[in-house]
Amino acid sequence: MMRNKVVSIVAMAGVSALALSLAACSSDGSADGGGDTTVFKVAFNQTESHPQFKVLEALGDRLSERTDGRYDIEVFPNETLGSQKDTIELVQAGSIDFSMVSGSLLENFNPDFVVFNLPYVFDSQDHQRAVVNDPAVTGDLFASIEDKGISVQAGFHGGIRNVYNSEKPINTPADLAGMKIRVIESDTNLRMMELMGGSGTPMGQGEVYTAIQSGVLTGAENNESIFSNLKHAEIAPYYSYTRHLMFPDYLIVNPKTMDKMSAEDQKVFAEELAVAIEDEAGLWAEEVSSSKAAAEAAGAKFNEVDADAFRTALAPLIEEKLATQTSKDLYDNVRAAAE
Ligand code: GCU
Repeated sequence: MMRNKVVSIVAMAGVSALALSLAACSSDGSADGGGDTTVFKVAFNQTESHPQFKVLEALGDRLSERTDGRYDIEVFPNETLGSQKDTIELVQAGSIDFSMVSGSLLENFNPDFVVFNLPYVFDSQDHQRAVVNDPAVTGDLFASIEDKGISVQAGFHGGIRNVYNSEKPINTPADLAGMKIRVIESDTNLRMMELMGGSGTPMGQGEVYTAIQSGVLTGAENNESIFSNLKHAEIAPYYSYTRHLMFPDYLIVNPKTMDKMSAEDQKVFAEELAVAIEDEAGLWAEEVSSSKAAAEAAGAKFNEVDADAFRTALAPLIEEKLATQTSKDLYDNVRAAAE
């Protein structure tokens, strides 16, 4: 409840005074650069126990140590700075420094980002991490939205997504008929849910619990971490392993924020960010198993599905979405790296 209140205050204020006062403050309270420590504010939409939260906090510690305290990082969890969609605008405006956002949302700035948000595009977390963070593959794509005020710094693992609902276990696409399933705000996700047999409802994460509870939604699709930590397991206990999606989350920053750092400090940041990406990967197995155990204790039921039926149903999405030569080439690169 508290979280929703804060979010709605932020939403009401638009590019809020709260966020404006938050961007990269120095420890003496002056604007960035004028004091001892520039503290980068990172918007995050999940809890403090999430692997991404942990590695970003640790990144801040190492950055502070290696820059003799010139830079530090403070992560704001639980959508306190707004929904992911809103925080992209705040980053573009320079009101906050960084945000961790789902890959799907960047399609709204350059549709070629869709390649990494397609069903079954990655074979494993390792495959995903290596390809998405390979500048030879993603360098041009990441640079393509800098003129829109978004610099993509890295791709993190964001879990493997499955459907869950309040009514019954799902086995085939036909079981999702008539169900309203929350999806992330992108055309690709809407079409994806249509092909999976359900009806997609786009919405920010902070609203999902209440929407399921009130019956506006039948369920959602997400990883075990969200399912358990945001307590969705208590109100939509049927979790079915469609494993349809594994898109990356991107750490984005306003390009001007990076430009203000010296070349040497930027190098330190890049090195420590690479460590954070590796560390996050190591935390996921434990996050999935502890989330699953907690959800089961709360009454959740997990089941396997007819995986081939979902794969067949989703095949047209891949054809439809690879609309440009760039996206086709990227897709081929990703798949080649899997073999
Ligand atoms: C995942 C993903 C987040 C995303 C969330 C959601 O947890 O890592 O970036 O915001 O799903 O569905 O809203």
